[in-house]
Amino acid sequence: MADFEPNILRATPDDSEDLSRLSTALFHLGCPAHTPAEDLLAFTSRELTAQKFREFIDDPGNAILLARVSNRLAGFALVAQAPAPQQSRADVELRKFYVDTPFHGTGLANVLMKEALATAEAAAKAGIWLSVFSGNPRAIAFYQRWGFRIIGEKTFVVGKDHQQDYLMENETPSRA
Ligand SMILES: CC(C)(COP(=O)(O)OP(=O)(O)OC[C@H]1O[C@@H](n2cnc3c(N)ncnc32)[C@H](O)[C@@H]1OP(=O)(O)O)[C@@H](O)C(=O)NCCC(=O)NCCS
Repeated sequence: MADFEPNILRATPDDSEDLSRLSTALFHLGCPAHTPAEDLLAFTSRELTAQKFREFIDDPGNAILLARVSNRLAGFALVAQAPAPQQSRADVELRKFYVDTPFHGTGLANVLMKEALATAEAAAKAGIWLSVFSGNPRAIAFYQRWGFRIIGEKTFVVGKDHQQDYLMENETPSRA
């Protein structure tokens, strides 16, 4: 049971500005603490713009799920039809998963993950994968609780900063 019962909705292009703002504000939490500000900015100003979110939303291979509390955007998940880079046959990626800090530890992330996994499972033939910074123990523990396991590593580039990510997979046994 979550402390806040969010409304879970599919994003429309009108949500792009909100999505850009929230992801830009939270992006650094998923990176090493030493990541230079200019590298964070290089990434967010290219990859997390409202225009990028409009493109994500327009792509029929993607689904963005919003968690709204009292009409405020409290979190979102981006599910994308995309093959895992290696080590896995998984074909649907949980590409972004962000919950705003006041809602951490409230159970809201669980409500969002349940919906995100249902959306991902409906599209997946072999499994669901994600990558997460290897020094983000909170997110890793959260994903493990939801059935993801570490299957490998991959480099993620933020500006000029090369970060070590874990590749995690959640097989969908009913469809494997
Ligand atoms: C990742 C995220 C969605 C998880 O949501 P949350 O509400 O914080 O998650 P929960 O509190 O339900 O679960 C976190 C787990 O990590 C544990 N945890 C918290 N801090 C921890 C730490 N420093 N080290 C290890 N485990 C930690 C909690 O005890 C909990 O474990 P449990 O499931 O065994 O009880 C949220 O923290 C978030 O959006 N973070 C910022 C963005 C981010 O990093 N996204 C992931 C990018 S891949």
